Amino acid sequence: MRTPIIAGNWKMHNNIEESLKLVRAIKSYDLAKNVEKVVCVPFTDLKSVKEEIKGTDIKLGAQNMHFEESGAYTGEISASMLKEIGVDYVIIGHSERREYFNETDETVNKKIKTAIKHNIKPILCVGETLEQREANEQKKIVKTQIEGALKDIETRDIEEIVVAYEPIWAIGTGKTASSIDAEDMIKFIRETINSLYGSLSQKVRIQYGGSVKPSNIVELMEKEEIDGALVGGASLKAEDFVKLVNF
Ligand code: G3P
Repeated sequence: MRTPIIAGNWKMHNNIEESLKLVRAIKSYDLAKNVEKVVCVPFTDLKSVKEEIKGTDIKLGAQNMHFEESGAYTGEISASMLKEIGVDYVIIGHSERREYFNETDETVNKKIKTAIKHNIKPILCVGETLEQREANEQKKIVKTQIEGALKDIETRDIEEIVVAYEPIWAIGTGKTASSIDAEDMIKFIRETINSLYGSLSQKVRIQYGGSVKPSNIVELMEKEEIDGALVGGASLKAEDFVKLVNF
């Protein structure tokens, strides 16, 4: 079936020295072999972390990239630059990027296409705000995000994409969606992918993200539709991240 995937999103935390310390601590533990583990680190730490995880099965992720191949885009990073370092995954469309950096479903879609072209697996983030949830619009919102993000993505590429359902009201707030709500939304996301790609939707891994921690990981991972977690805060402590990987 689907291999579970636990990814840490370090966001704008950790300089090179701190990143190396964290990743050394993580790799000093016995890590579950049957779980894919990814650390999504700041751009400036990618190269050093890549060297540090050599010989382990920890994968490297970036947190964003530009959709153009190259050009006059001051401050941006291209897919080939990430590939050169050996990046395996890239987070696309995180709610913080949608909120603070004007990412739209259209730019998300372009970035996914470019990432796939360069053999970098996208972790596509979707999720509703608290207001939208209170108005019971979460399914409508997430459906639009999924359809927009996957527009014209080739059938053969769909399995390469990991989706992360991150309700915005649960990010960094300590409020986790209940495992029942998370399962319900993730099931809905799979149905939406099914309406676009048929039974291939069964192969797409869908994570939950939002205040995931050692105390709630088991309950979440017990759910049939939840294939992993995208973790912020708890991924910054080696001991906690390892507990999540070894759920
Ligand atoms: O991408 C992970 C994230 O946004 C969740 O953050 O701190 O609630 O685990 P956190």
